[in-house]
Amino acid sequence: KSCSVTARAHTNIALVKYWGKKNQELIIPMNNSLSLTLDHFYTDTTVTFDKELEHDTFYLNNKLKDDPKIKSFMNLVRSLANIKTFATIDSVNHVPTQAGLASSASAYAALAKAASCAAGLNLNKTNLSRLARRGSGSACRSIYGGFVEWQQGTNDTDSYAVPFLENVDWDISVLAIVLNSKEKKITSRLGMQSVVASSPYYQAWVETCQQNISDLKKAILARNFDEMGRISEENAMKMHALNLSASPHFNYFEPESLIAMRLVEELRQTGISCYYTLDAGPNVKVLCLRKDVTAIKKKLSTVFSPEQLLLSSPGPGVTLI
Ligand code: DP6
Repeated sequence: KSCSVTARAHTNIALVKYWGKKNQELIIPMNNSLSLTLDHFYTDTTVTFDKELEHDTFYLNNKLKDDPKIKSFMNLVRSLANIKTFATIDSVNHVPTQAGLASSASAYAALAKAASCAAGLNLNKTNLSRLARRGSGSACRSIYGGFVEWQQGTNDTDSYAVPFLENVDWDISVLAIVLNSKEKKITSRLGMQSVVASSPYYQAWVETCQQNISDLKKAILARNFDEMGRISEENAMKMHALNLSASPHFNYFEPESLIAMRLVEELRQTGISCYYTLDAGPNVKVLCLRKDVTAIKKKLSTVFSPEQLLLSSPGPGVTLI
């Protein structure tokens, strides 16, 4: 019996961020988060279980990789499926360039789907989201397309994503500005652990995120782009303020990140609706409406090259291919 399955999952950009865990082992977050799945950046993963294998083998972009996190994720899948067979995992990231946009979100959403199907598990989307969460928190949102909310819950069973607006009938674009990071970056896992432990503002983050989520949902339902952008930008800056207030403090900004943010603010002063958000890295993602993309690109081109500007739109949930 053949047990080779390929799945495709797209990355997502959080508008209200997940930044902090209340349970490290099970990856239960401190606050709800809300994201938009993107169409342009995705991961294709093939999982093949084979009785002859003596261990799991993982290839990323056709290169053999030793990743203990992938192995423990596969152990979790085996325990759920009650099997002992090892697998070959073949994962390819489709990102227009080597942009540092390859995300653990698309990776674990695709792996959760491919591995669970290949192991004979027939998980519904809620259980698939719960499984993806165990690989990387943000992956639980990439099970769905469009706007997605991760409901934090309290334990393994009630912490998963739910679709908020799957088919986005709204001409929203996300323009990613790809910057080179000179420093070895602090992983999100370590960064969020540090702020929970040491930022004096952490409690305020948790309290205000709940309001940010409900305001953002209202803005999305009303198709109020400016309100959506404003809340997203503020939430991102609040997350980065946590990093600046940690002990020891850290940040993900490169000088060019600040230049990009300034350009977006200048565009806004000329009446163009655009807002920025940044994750655990220096790349700046600009939220805008499709009709304004040309004008925004023109302005950004005064500093950045065309290869640094990657355009995407709302994308779909995880699928078998
Ligand atoms: C800043 O999902 O990568 O992108 O659960 O530890 O694997 P782990 O973290 P991860 O964190 C993502 C953080 C973020 C915000 C977000 O996507 O919500």
